[in-house]
Amino acid sequence: MKLLGAFFCGLLCASAAVGDGLKCTLKPADIPSDWLDMVDPCIKIMEHQIQTEIQAAMTYLAMGAHFARDTVNRPGFSKFFFEAASEERDHAFKIIEYLLMRGQLTTNVPNLLKFPLKPPREDWSSAVSALNDALILEAKVTSSIREIIKTCETPKTSDFNDYHLVDYLTGDFLEEQYKGQRDLAGKISTLGKMMINHGPLGEFLYDKQLLKDEL
Ligand SMILES: [Fe+2]
Repeated sequence: MKLLGAFFCGLLCASAAVGDGLKCTLKPADIPSDWLDMVDPCIKIMEHQIQTEIQAAMTYLAMGAHFARDTVNRPGFSKFFFEAASEERDHAFKIIEYLLMRGQLTTNVPNLLKFPLKPPREDWSSAVSALNDALILEAKVTSSIREIIKTCETPKTSDFNDYHLVDYLTGDFLEEQYKGQRDLAGKISTLGKMMINHGPLGEFLYDKQLLKDEL
């Protein structure tokens, strides 16, 4: 019966396909590889950045969840951090899409996401403390993007300068990083002053404004 199944599977596969037991696997298309010009250290560091972005998304998810608790109840901060989590996840998508555009990620894609997914913290003593952590996190992400740019501009194993990728990361990713860092620094400044003058009431009032997107 098993042999018969394998026979029918083989029949169902086109002549270009090969049967693997009862599994029918199509042979990959025979595409010339001349257009694939990314070099190895650059590909590897880009793949690692996918994990960095997902990890940042996890951290922001933990922050959003913390401020959403009934005992903390800061809906403005919760919304702000959940939105930041979505942005980080979008960054991971953008890198995956970029690598696919350049003909990469054809094998072992799920392996890219096999890493311990755990936020470094799950609660924060105040909103200022979470914003400080967010700014430190963004500075690390900025530094990792700069490292990719360096690696892809002058790879150690090749003289291939990946102009397009470097331009994309510089104009798109770094621009967003610098704007995001400035935004966080400004929020830490304003909230810090409100806390000095009004204590927890300052955080409460700031949260209300944040919820209305007025900050
Ligand atoms: Fe990011």
